[in-house]
This record gives sequence, C-alpha cells and structure tokens, in this order.
Amino acid sequence: MQFRRSDFPEGFLFGAATAAYQIEGHKFGGAGSTHWDTFAATPGNVIRAEDGALACDHYHRFGEDLDLLQEAGMGAYRFSTSWARVMPDGKTPNPKGLDFYDMLTDAILERGLKPFQTLYHWELPSALADQGGWTNRDTVHRFGEFVDVITNKIGDRMDSIATVNEPWCVAFLSHFLGHHAPGLRDIRATARAMHHINLAHGEAMTRLRDKGMKNCGIVLNFDHATPLDDTQESAAAANLQDAISNRWFVEAITKGTYPTEVLAGFAPHMPDGWQDDMEQISQPIDFLGVNYYTRHRITSDPDAPWPGVRDVPGDLPLTQMDWEIYPQGLYDFLTRLSREYVGDLPLYVTENGMAWDDKVENGAVFDPERTKFVSDHILAAKRAIADGANVKGFFYWSLLDNYEWAFGYEKRFGMIHVDFDTLKRTPKASYYALKAAIARE
Ligand code: FCB
Repeated sequence: MQFRRSDFPEGFLFGAATAAYQIEGHKFGGAGSTHWDTFAATPGNVIRAEDGALACDHYHRFGEDLDLLQEAGMGAYRFSTSWARVMPDGKTPNPKGLDFYDMLTDAILERGLKPFQTLYHWELPSALADQGGWTNRDTVHRFGEFVDVITNKIGDRMDSIATVNEPWCVAFLSHFLGHHAPGLRDIRATARAMHHINLAHGEAMTRLRDKGMKNCGIVLNFDHATPLDDTQESAAAANLQDAISNRWFVEAITKGTYPTEVLAGFAPHMPDGWQDDMEQISQPIDFLGVNYYTRHRITSDPDAPWPGVRDVPGDLPLTQMDWEIYPQGLYDFLTRLSREYVGDLPLYVTENGMAWDDKVENGAVFDPERTKFVSDHILAAKRAIADGANVKGFFYWSLLDNYEWAFGYEKRFGMIHVDFDTLKRTPKASYYALKAAIARE
C-alpha cells in the first residue's frame, strides 16, 4: 500500500464491513424468512438460486472472524443486525436473536474494536414483505419498533448507529430495476419505496434520539454519473442519473427536499402527504456514511420512457463485477458532499472494495489488484481530507468473501478468502498489506 497510518489524522479509523444476511447463516438461531430467501428461491433471480441460509456461518464462527479483524490492527467493525433474526415474524422479538447480537457486541468490544451498527442492511422479514414491504407506509412503523427492541438490547454499547444501508438499492434497484428483492419493476412501487425508506431513516432517528443515542446517521451509496460525451443530452441524462441515485437521498436527509427532476417522474406515484414527512426525514444526523465503488458513463435514451437514461460501458480496468475502477470518484464525492451538503459533519467511507476471482494456491491468496485498489482509494480519501472533507474513517468491503446478493457466492469481495465447502478462512495478501500499512510505528 502507498500510505501509512501516520499519513492520517490521529483517531482516523480503519475497519472492515459486513452485513448480517451475507455472512451469518440465516438458518440458525430462529431467524425468520426474509424477502431475500424467497427472491433467491425464484428461478432466474440469483446465480444457482443461492441464498444466505449458511453463508459464512459467522453465527458460529464470529470469534475467529473478529480475531482476524483485531490481528489486522483494525479499529472498528461495521456490521448489521438482522431485523428478521430479531423479529422473525416482523413483530415478535426472538430472545435467541437478541442474545446473539448481545454476545457479538461484547466480543467486538473485548477485542478493542469499535462497533458500528447498521440497523437495516436489507434483512426485511417476509411477513412484512407480504404486506407490501417498503411500498407500505406501515413498514416504517414496524421498523421503528425493531429499532426500539434492538437498541434496548445493545444500544448502550454501540459506537455508531446507521439507520439504513444504501436506500437507493432498497428502493430503485429493487423496485424499478428488479435486480434485488423484492424484484419488482414498477414505477408506483418505486416512488413509494423511495419515499418510505427515507421516512424509515427519519423514524429510526426519532426513536434513537428518544433514547438519547449519539453518533447516529445513515449510509448512502454514491454512484458517479459521468456524461458519456460533451453533448447537452448526455449532460442532462447524467444530471438526472445523479439526482436519482445520489441527490434524492442526500438532499432529502440534509435539506428536506427532493430534486425536481426526479419528482417530474415520480410525482403522480408518490404517497399522499409525502411533503409532511420531510421534516422528520431531514432531522440532524451526526455522520454520513459513504459507500463508493465505481462510476457510470451516462447518456440519454430517447426511445425509453422516463427516466430515459442509458449506461455505456467505459474503458477503465474492470473488477470481477465488471465495475470500472475510478478512485477519483471517491475524492469527488467526499469533497462535493462536504462542500454542498454536510459541511464539517463527519464522513466515513463505510464501504469500498472490489471483487476478484481469488484462488487459494499453496495456502495463500495473491491479490495485488485488490491491494492497489484499496491503496488508490484510501489515497483518494487522504486527498479529500487535505482539501477540507472531514473524513474520519475507512471501512473495507468486505471482511470476508460472502453472499453477494444476486451474484450468490461467485463474486469475492473479502480481504479474507472463504472456502464455501469447508468454510475455512484464508487471509489474502491484501489483508497483510493493509495490516502492514496501518501498523502503529
Ligand atoms: C453494496 C452493499 C453490500 C455489498 C457491496 C458489494 O451495495 O451494501 O452489501 O453487496 O455493495
């Protein structure tokens, strides 16, 4: 890696991130069915119809996984607490699920790691999906109840709590593009989910504040929309794409407004009275989490209905996901967010990483591509700090190879390789490279 810990301000956190359904093994401990279980069981949605029933069996192996985090010299662990594990039917608390997170929290703290919790990383109980999931306003209130239950159990020991992970994925990717659970392609469902997920953030913030919780915020994914060329059409299309993927969320949360160019498409489909929710959605937060992976080159698609934008593959080096590698985009977002939206509010890079077709050879995994990727992105964050962005930490996605949603177990994002037959963990060369870079001198 081309940086050292001492290049960063004192207290800057290096960590790694995971999410419950992707690693735990949802068949254990009385967890309820989630919409991902049924989405995966439907032909054509997920590679080989794989699901999170076993995943990395982190449910039983979390001690070993946390040891690896600690041994790397990391300072924090970002994880999610599954709603369907805590409330299998969407309303009744599951004591075993609560005990699991209680134990996990203590295990994180025992290793000197700061717990960074995410309340919703897509583990929607099927019972609530049956009622319309995020298209139904009632799901917001049910989510509030879950926030109360899990916070009463472990909130006293959290360093930081994020309400929702990547609302764009929850709403647009899942209800408009159909790539994630529940796999809908419907503009009315999308407009409702786009609003209700923001309101769920607001509802969670209200409940957390009622309990006096500090360091509360949200994790958004930022998608760099680069105009394909210098035509006006491409500029307008990229602007609309940016408004849908990025501004809809960050503007609502920090300013209480929605971008007009997105309302132009969604207005007829929005839930009645949405304007009255904007105050709750835009209540103060303590930090903003930034997930960043790639850029998209955008132009218009005049033959398609609204939004009429098209994504054209670019020519930068690609990851195993076929995502272009573009560290400059991370710099651009961190500086833009501090300039236009959050000022001095702490920013965390809550996810950044890459998938590669990693193989264990002679007991080791050689992944120089990932080492370079991480190094280049961390250096982009460092430049953003020098230019005024208040970036407080960087979390690699992901600690472990895991269930990569619609891609099943095929795409390997981990710093630690997982053999999905034996569940053996093998730290990759990038893990050791990061460990050396962040070692205290
Ligand atoms: C993000 C998700 C995370 C993981 C990475 C690769 O969109 O938050 O769960 O799938 O992408």
